[in-house]
Amino acid sequence: MLELQHVSYSVPEAGGLDILRDVSLSVPDHTLVVLTGPNGGGKTTLAKLIMGLAAPTSGRILWNGEDITRLSITERARRGISYGFQQPPRFKGITVRDLLTMASGDKTLSKDRCCHFLTRVGLCANDYLDREVDTSLSGGEVKRIEIASILARGAQLMIFDEPEAGIDLWSFSRLTETFEQLHAKGSATMMIISHQERIISLADEVVVVGEGKILHRGSADEILPKILSDTLGSCPVLSKGGAAQ
Ligand SMILES: Nc1ncnc2c1ncn2[C@@H]1O[C@H](COP(=O)(O)OP(=O)(O)O)[C@@H](O)[C@H]1O
Ligand SMILES: [Mg+2]
Repeated sequence: MLELQHVSYSVPEAGGLDILRDVSLSVPDHTLVVLTGPNGGGKTTLAKLIMGLAAPTSGRILWNGEDITRLSITERARRGISYGFQQPPRFKGITVRDLLTMASGDKTLSKDRCCHFLTRVGLCANDYLDREVDTSLSGGEVKRIEIASILARGAQLMIFDEPEAGIDLWSFSRLTETFEQLHAKGSATMMIISHQERIISLADEVVVVGEGKILHRGSADEILPKILSDTLGSCPVLSKGGAAQ
């Protein structure tokens, strides 16, 4: 179980404003939670605090009952937490096979197993295994390779930050199926930051984050209509256009 207790985060660069304000959230084991909400609302920051890429200004983060607020990224990774960046880093000189091998912790990871992980994100092992994870790969390819490496790691808590970004429709379908299957297997807890209705509809709980706090939470059926009406309500151009028709 993941628990955020009254988590706030501010940095002087943001003019002393709180990027996150008093966020409390519990994610029971084996559930799939989707964080959604407007750009700049604080979703990525929340994910980074959970992974340990930044430390909260106040509040606590508990994982399986242990206070991990001050633990390093490595210590959190050892405890089974993994995070897929919104914009994944590239690693010159490291091949896709190296990355999957390191992630799995199995030095003898077979081509078949690599193929298994890559297929789940819509990539073919023959085309990618020996490619370097460098700038020769497109944004969508790097993104999918990173997701494959998270699958290879088999973490207990998987956090995916906008996995749909830069991905073609076919691969997106494949990825959605993968999330659905992982969830059905119940082996991991998943937190997915997404704006996609298809991913949101897979969630046990949808959490709408905006202005640094939790604006709404509930089932996909409850929240999806709210998101749609909030979006229209908060956009003056759309509201005006709607009134004029
Ligand atoms: N280190 C930082 N310095 C200044 N502003 C930041 C920093 N990190 C995040 N922010 C700001 O905090 C807000 C939330 O960012 P983010 O968590 O990336 O939002 P989201 O992922 O919901 O789009 C944004 O306005 C962003 O510019
Ligand atoms: Mg983000």
